[in-house]
Amino acid sequence: MRLGIALSGVGSNMLALAQACRDGRIPADISLVASDRSDAPGLARATELGLPTATIARLKDEPRDAHDARLRAAFESSGVDCIALAGYMRILSAHFVAAFAGRLLNIHPSLLPRHKGLHTHRAALAAHDREHGATVHFVTPDLDGGPAVLQGIVPVLPDDDEHALAARVQRCEHTLYPTVVEWFARGRLRCDVAGRPILDSELLTVPRVIRFDAEGIRRD
Ligand code: GAR
Repeated sequence: MRLGIALSGVGSNMLALAQACRDGRIPADISLVASDRSDAPGLARATELGLPTATIARLKDEPRDAHDARLRAAFESSGVDCIALAGYMRILSAHFVAAFAGRLLNIHPSLLPRHKGLHTHRAALAAHDREHGATVHFVTPDLDGGPAVLQGIVPVLPDDDEHALAARVQRCEHTLYPTVVEWFARGRLRCDVAGRPILDSELLTVPRVIRFDAEGIRRD
């Protein structure tokens, strides 16, 4: 499988995916790491790993569709079978999502459908949630609303601040994303014609769940 990754930031999820490809857990080659930001630290880290990279920055006054068409062309010419959005902080156009329907994944830092959008850790603390986490889901035009495949649940501790909670969630993300991409690469995970996720021939009506303790250790 040829895996494409899109990012805008630090790239810790990209690193987790790259490591899992490198050690053979995910049977895939990374064909392109693309970013909308030339200064994204994740892009520099991908270059250090010897991965193909591209900056597809939005030009001044460029419409979203035109920008996304350039991103799509970059991924298509790299021959991707699947794209993992790994902290890509731009909303993708319906055209882009349709072009990669059923093979476009995202990781979101909350237990969807709770806390869509930005500042999810702040929102979880403000809501006094006792549990928080991250979700890997297929992308549809409905922002953060595509069908969820796997969730990682972490406890919220009484003295947590946004930073501590974010760090705990990120540790769990680095288990979740390689797990789901491995399922996809091994042909265990796909979408049916209606766009619903099928894992091991079973319709996923609710996401699979992995629970983690405060130290980021799996509890199951
Ligand atoms: C991750 O926590 C990911 O869940 C989040 O951005 C972070 C990227 O971190 N994604 C979103 O908020 C998407 N709406 P990373 O650059 O270290 O992988």
